[in-house]
Amino acid sequence: MPRPSYFKIYLDALNHNFDALSHLAGSRQKMAVVKANAYGHGAIVCAKNLEARVDAFAVAITEEAIELREAGIAKPILVLQGPHSPEDITAITAYSLWPAISNHYQLEWLRNHPYNPDQVWLKVDTGMHRLGFAPNEVADVQSTLHTEGVSQIILMSHLADAEDAKSTLTHRQTARWNEVLNTQHDAAEITERASLSNSASTVGVLSPPESWVRLGYSLYGGSLIALPPGLKLRPVMTFNSQVAAIRWIDTGETVGYGGRWVARRRSRIATIPVGYGDGYPRAAADGTPIGTPHGTVPLAGKVSMDMITADVTDIPDIDFGTKVTLWGDSPSVDEVAAHCDTIGYELCTRITGRTPRIVGY
Ligand SMILES: Cc1ncc(COP(=O)(O)O)c(C=O)c1O
Repeated sequence: MPRPSYFKIYLDALNHNFDALSHLAGSRQKMAVVKANAYGHGAIVCAKNLEARVDAFAVAITEEAIELREAGIAKPILVLQGPHSPEDITAITAYSLWPAISNHYQLEWLRNHPYNPDQVWLKVDTGMHRLGFAPNEVADVQSTLHTEGVSQIILMSHLADAEDAKSTLTHRQTARWNEVLNTQHDAAEITERASLSNSASTVGVLSPPESWVRLGYSLYGGSLIALPPGLKLRPVMTFNSQVAAIRWIDTGETVGYGGRWVARRRSRIATIPVGYGDGYPRAAADGTPIGTPHGTVPLAGKVSMDMITADVTDIPDIDFGTKVTLWGDSPSVDEVAAHCDTIGYELCTRITGRTPRIVGY
């Protein structure tokens, strides 16, 4: 009998989320961000499933785009980090990818390359200060790209604090974004070739001028912000297992490495065969919720490489073989992440290859 621990990927949930987000995005074109193996969900399977619905895909690096092309994905693919070397431009043109260009080295590599992509995304640093040309460089870079025969230039920027539409940082970035668009010769036209929003900015209240949204985490059903009324996203990934051992311990006994969890009463402890070797975060605090058909129980004790333990004293129905949900509908990956001082993005992305990923509807 194999270990009863697995991830299930629900493609119908992915479709549902895409359709719901598309509705919010309105007339803006929709890009599905499938970098880092589609945030751990499986890039090829997710891209194949979404291909008929999306206008384009985005990945971080050329290698990820090549993997998709070789799997038969024909829709446009934006490489968000752009080329990392002159050879990367050769791959970008050979596989008909869209590069994002964010510095003068990349621009120079493009200029020296005999063929250029017909579409280039020009990344502007509006305040995240990670990648991008300064706003006052944009006009020159556009003119160089035009001279090099690039026919479509899409302006893009990335928000550092999109979850907080009212923050000073978001305000500063959106103000700079508006300025960049306003300094274009044909402001109307350029607003049709511009992209600022990620998930939080699409789901939230920002509505910046743009023609493309780049949807990542929300596609997979997670959110760092409260969803607007009427928007229901479904978790694409569930992390499942079963109780593999159960025992009573006396008051004062401890559970797991370092004895972090101490029994304040006579306690019933369930052992579940998943650990940080599967991607369940070692940072999970005591009390992190674990779902069962009879209710939620708290994590009790440090996460081991292959096992976790839960205090099931209050739910006698939980026994050997009871199914558990580490994340999915309840608890959500965002709830689990909140107990681990991280975000659900990291939990999904860090799942390991040891645990089967079963794809279904
Ligand atoms: C440049 C860029 N655009 C869009 C996204 C998608 O963001 P989200 O997953 O929050 O939708 C990311 C993700 O990190 C990104 O780096």
